[in-house]
Amino acid sequence: MNAVPAASLLRTIENRLSAAGVPSPAADARLIVAHACGLPGSRVALLTEIPESDLQEIDRLTVRREARVPLQHLTGQASFLNLDLNVGPGVFTPRPETEVLVDWLIGVLPSNDGPSVAVDLCAGSGAIGLALAANVADCSVLAVERSPQACSYAQQNYERHAELIRANGSAYSLLEADVTRPAWLAALDRPADVVVSNPPYIPAGAIPRDPEVRDHDPAIALYGGPDGLELIRSLVPLAECALRPGGLLAIEHADDQGEQAREAGVPELLRQRGFVDVVDHHDLAGRPRFTTAVVGETSDPAPGGC
Ligand SMILES: C[S@@+](CC[C@H](N)C(=O)[O-])C[C@H]1O[C@@H](n2cnc3c(N)ncnc32)[C@H](O)[C@@H]1O
Repeated sequence: MNAVPAASLLRTIENRLSAAGVPSPAADARLIVAHACGLPGSRVALLTEIPESDLQEIDRLTVRREARVPLQHLTGQASFLNLDLNVGPGVFTPRPETEVLVDWLIGVLPSNDGPSVAVDLCAGSGAIGLALAANVADCSVLAVERSPQACSYAQQNYERHAELIRANGSAYSLLEADVTRPAWLAALDRPADVVVSNPPYIPAGAIPRDPEVRDHDPAIALYGGPDGLELIRSLVPLAECALRPGGLLAIEHADDQGEQAREAGVPELLRQRGFVDVVDHHDLAGRPRFTTAVVGETSDPAPGGC
């Protein structure tokens, strides 16, 4: 086989992916070719021919993407704000919805005086905590994650970005622990300014339709008990113990767990616990996606105290 024209190969891959139901076939076709040829995605548009030596790998990746293996597992990479992260089987692939939450936090954190302390509960690949440490100056991040496989990705990602974090005057530490048990609180030197979490929040019976999610994100990362809120209910009192008076809690949730869910939503859950300034925020698609709230005077810490 000789080199083939890039435009026609890209069209063929796009058609194959489209027939397999892949949601963004043109973009994925470009990224498959870029990965196989060892080029940045932006360079693919400049290619006129694809060398024969890359065709077998391109076909192998296309076959796997047709089988709905996530593109990020094929490339081993996910981008999250300004960071590239290692991902793959055993860890949740970070989502654009979560970027909106972190972008919002990056905007509010520097308004604190002096150094800040942030806690990332349910850290997965480390996306949230690493993005805070890399983008907020003088910020110490404690990341807590239960899955050993996810911790191994978070550690790799920390090592990948450690220099950037240090240059920013910030720090990152990772703890393998269950966020619903109080042991992780002992890892904090001082009360936190922010606790953030993108916890598992899908109700146990609501199996996602997308094969990329259903078959490739770990179950521990997706399901939050019968109504999806089990883990959130357990972590909120401990987050409250971790926060300083006036500290901020930010929790990602499903689009039907916001204000419109009333008593069954995250905003109401936080108001009932005494949090104040409870605000529900939308993602880029305009759907309710995360709640922020401030520790109030009347908040009721974990049973038995902190
Ligand atoms: C939806 S993923 C979010 C990962 C990452 N924060 C992100 O936004 O990409 C939820 C994460 O919570 C972790 N997890 C689930 N239950 C946990 C628990 N009880 N304690 C600590 N981590 C937990 C899962 O292993 C998974 O990595």
